[in-house]
Amino acid sequence: MTLAEPTRRNLPMLDHVRGKRSAVTCQLKCANACLGPECNTSANEDFRSIATAVFSRRALFGLGAAAAVAVAVGMGRGAGAPTSAPSAAGVGGPGASVARPGRAGLSFGAIAPVPAEVDAFTVPDGYTWKPIIRWGDPLFSSTPAFDIEAQTPEAQAGQFGYNSDYLDIVADPSGKTGVLVNNHEYVNPNLMFRDTDDAAELRRRGDIYKAAQGMSVVEIRRRRVGDPWEYVVDGRRNRRITVETVFELTGPAAGSDLVKTAADPEGRWVHGTLGNCSGGTTPWGTILSGEENFNGYFAWAADTAEQKRYSGSSTTSTSTGWEAYDPRFDAHQAGYVNEPNRFGYIVEIDPQDPTSTPRKHTAMGRFKHEGANVRVAEDGRVVAYMGDDERNDYLYKFVSKNRISGSRKKNLKLLSEGDLFVAKFRGDSPAAEITGTGALPTDGAFDGTGEWLPLTRNGESVVPGFTTEQVLVYTRLAADAIGATKMDRPEDVEPSPVTGKVYVALTNNSRRSEVDEANPVRGNRYGHVVEITETAGQSGTRFGWSILMLCGDPNTFENAYFAGFPKELVSPISCPDNVAFDSHGDLWISTDGAPGTIGYGDGLFKVPLTGSERGHVQQFLSVPRDAETCGPVIHDREGLVFVAVQHPGEDGTFDQPRSLFPDYGSTAQGDIATAPRPAVVQVHRG
Ligand code: FEO
Ligand code: CA
Ligand code: CA
Repeated sequence: MTLAEPTRRNLPMLDHVRGKRSAVTCQLKCANACLGPECNTSANEDFRSIATAVFSRRALFGLGAAAAVAVAVGMGRGAGAPTSAPSAAGVGGPGASVARPGRAGLSFGAIAPVPAEVDAFTVPDGYTWKPIIRWGDPLFSSTPAFDIEAQTPEAQAGQFGYNSDYLDIVADPSGKTGVLVNNHEYVNPNLMFRDTDDAAELRRRGDIYKAAQGMSVVEIRRRRVGDPWEYVVDGRRNRRITVETVFELTGPAAGSDLVKTAADPEGRWVHGTLGNCSGGTTPWGTILSGEENFNGYFAWAADTAEQKRYSGSSTTSTSTGWEAYDPRFDAHQAGYVNEPNRFGYIVEIDPQDPTSTPRKHTAMGRFKHEGANVRVAEDGRVVAYMGDDERNDYLYKFVSKNRISGSRKKNLKLLSEGDLFVAKFRGDSPAAEITGTGALPTDGAFDGTGEWLPLTRNGESVVPGFTTEQVLVYTRLAADAIGATKMDRPEDVEPSPVTGKVYVALTNNSRRSEVDEANPVRGNRYGHVVEITETAGQSGTRFGWSILMLCGDPNTFENAYFAGFPKELVSPISCPDNVAFDSHGDLWISTDGAPGTIGYGDGLFKVPLTGSERGHVQQFLSVPRDAETCGPVIHDREGLVFVAVQHPGEDGTFDQPRSLFPDYGSTAQGDIATAPRPAVVQVHRG
């Protein structure tokens, strides 16, 4: 099969000027949020102006890279004292995998960046890769094998879903069995099907899209600890969660008038989850998933401030077409005006119990949740860090009311009750002009301070003019009202399991109105990473912050910055998205947007956080043409790295694919690959 240049067939709504990422991604994944009006029109201060003030102060001090490294060595371990979960029978999950014997850390020679048009999955010398499971692979023996020419809603509901994002590999105590959990964020109709205008066929496909989204839980096994994993057909815990699965609403907004619809007059049960992007695995072994671009699935009236703040503008049709036959996706319909209020939450599923009812936690607020990552505070309460992935939106933190315990049953309720906070960043010196491009930021333990502003206290609203239910359903507006800091699209926000410091991936915000691209600090085409140090305990309300990285290709972006590490020695990196840690405490970053910004494929990068290697960005892998790298999981003690490959070949079509990942050549069954398939990949030595 010949690979072809992109075409735009089968995309009826496409009206997009090519930007830094694929126009197809913009339409299908984010409902062209970049092209719409600003959702956040509040007058709140933006992080850029604060960062400018801090960088300016450093410029005046005239510190250089060598001084920065020295500061980092001296301060890196100081402020964020490690905390650990109580030893209790109810606590398990991801910690189990990092506690296994084996050397901490993963050694490899960084790969060279791969040009964006190359359709290959590239790993370092000494490593190899193979998929564990791909879109369409059957989870049950009663489900048909994948056949792209014979797709049905029923088959898809028993097969692995499309466009993999958040991923975890949770081993059982034996280390030889476990579960793989994966989010399926959205679908690519242009790659799944040939073009058609047939109304009946479009509706049939709509039901396939409903079944292809959501989440998958799949059992995995291997012969020996350290071997690569394979998935198990008919595993006891195998489960698909789709747009029709019933979820329970929990927390103060459950049962409120804001979430009642004609189909659910009690406001307590929601069909489905949408836009499941990143997530996290809790210390008690459940999986959290962020409902991110849920707005793209609804036809919106957008005639109220509340609707505008979430949808940007009114729409009459969506790329899935569900609104044409399922009234809950048409917010113009009487009885369903509140349906969008039932999406945009953190959902929690129990991967150990395939009969459990998944839940949506209103106490954690409603916005375009990227994900949530939990850490147990010194006082035993649990803290979840969360980003709202929209230009100029906010960074949040949830603190549970109750403490973690040995009771799994009680731990399953921890995220239903607690308080929600939003971040306010402050620079610690007056703003000053940066003069010249040589005045790069330097590194230190504290480059500014900040405060977690409460939206609720003791579970009740403290925002003037907002009821508790309004705070939790219209969280963005409540955060606007109390002066939260506008951020550059917060993606994954994750505390280090070693230090408790929190790392915030801010993917980009190149269209921020205040941008001065001549200024080495203000331009943010490539995104950056902020390091937060909680200064009043993990559950406290004060923090310090510093810039860890200003991303970009140092060969072309002279203000790229990597915690003071010599930038001629780092791998180019752009648009940080998901983050993870290995057992050594090194940060791993996967990217979404490198092809359109630095001309290379997206990838996975390791970044040490302490010592003389702090800031030494090293690329571990590169994903195929048009794909983004998602869900990294690093089991360094076993020499295993896992990623989800999302939207490979996205700029192609069914008839003219731009990628044949992952079955280059042929499948194991001898079939010739004709289409790309999103998949979960494991990388191992060999
Ligand atoms: Fe689905 Fe914020 O990325
Ligand atoms: Ca993401
Ligand atoms: Ca993560």
